[in-house]
Amino acid sequence: MQLPQKHSATGTTIFTVMSALAAEHNAINLSQGFPDFHIDEQLSRLLGEAAKNGHNQYSPMPGLPALRQAVAASFKKRYGLTVDPDTELTITPGATYAIYTAFTAILQPGDEAIVLEPAYDSYIPNIEMNGAKAVPVALTAPDFHVDWNKVKDAITPRTKAIIVNTPHNPTGAIWSKEDWDQLAELVRDTEIIILSDEVYEQLVLDGKKHNSVLEHEELRQRSFALYSFGKVYNNTGWKIGYCVAPPAFTQAFRRIHQFLCFTVNTPGQYALAGHIAADTAAPVHTIMQQKRDHFLSIMKDTPFTIFKPAAGSYFQIAGYERVSDMPDMEFAQWLTKEHGVATIPVSAFYSNKKDDKLIRFCFAKKEETLDEAVNRLKKIKG
Ligand SMILES: Cc1ncc(COP(=O)(O)O)c(C=O)c1O
Repeated sequence: MQLPQKHSATGTTIFTVMSALAAEHNAINLSQGFPDFHIDEQLSRLLGEAAKNGHNQYSPMPGLPALRQAVAASFKKRYGLTVDPDTELTITPGATYAIYTAFTAILQPGDEAIVLEPAYDSYIPNIEMNGAKAVPVALTAPDFHVDWNKVKDAITPRTKAIIVNTPHNPTGAIWSKEDWDQLAELVRDTEIIILSDEVYEQLVLDGKKHNSVLEHEELRQRSFALYSFGKVYNNTGWKIGYCVAPPAFTQAFRRIHQFLCFTVNTPGQYALAGHIAADTAAPVHTIMQQKRDHFLSIMKDTPFTIFKPAAGSYFQIAGYERVSDMPDMEFAQWLTKEHGVATIPVSAFYSNKKDDKLIRFCFAKKEETLDEAVNRLKKIKG
């Protein structure tokens, strides 16, 4: 029987491929974006308590009220922003799901959606699964800034959405307020909706500040902002996130959400609600700042080139031009098999597999993991 191919991304995602290769060759896995250290003690305790205390049945469709209220209070405290937990905030099983649900709420067959590449790999398949066309626009290396003229040229009367991501996976670049102003100018007289993937919102480094679409009064009215607790509390495997959007958008989002999964893991929501409200944990950016600084300092003794330290996220892009001129996919496989360090080739984040000969390291790892990986990299001749 022939089943339909709903999107153009054939095969398995690069994250699964590289993690499997890492396991096969006993390599240190700096490829997939997940921490290899324990979560906060309080958070795991609260999860156990939630289950023990009988919070094991369905929670309300938009999410546990206590969690929505805790998130809204956190927006108020950190940004001075008012988010209505009842009409503007929906808890989801992760951000990937929230992105898919937002696209599904707005896209019709024949619509176009602009994607800035390199991009997180679910965006384009999610657009295509809704019968729409993804229109990629390349960011400009090596700092991966947005060329706004290129975005302008990509807009057509069929453009329904633009998805953006700051802090950015895989490059670690962050947006300034001016970037949001430029975007606002381009979409002002259109019906274009913005999807703002802000999963690394709390991972802005070097004392800088995250600029959220929610702070841009004009854009906020036409945006879905998507978040992941996994990136804030180092528990990516819990797969819990949320979507913030104006009331009419939230209604459309929930119309899809209620028939996709209806509700999200209840004990996890209880634990997160208690943990956020207590507000006692060290902010994740202080943990990752230390890791990025350590990683960069030890990478100096390797033949890899760091063009620009990651400004946000937990990813660092590096060049390997002093080691090899292999295509990046081949190089990443060679590095895993021959030197025992798994990374992600950046071409995997482009629909046309554009190869700038760059690889992505994830530094959200224990210090000893980073040390061992870099000791292996130091043995490579430049
Ligand atoms: C840019 C970006 N968006 C979304 C996600 C997915 O978040 P979640 O695990 O909550 O689905 C990731 C995870 O790596 C990501 O890097």
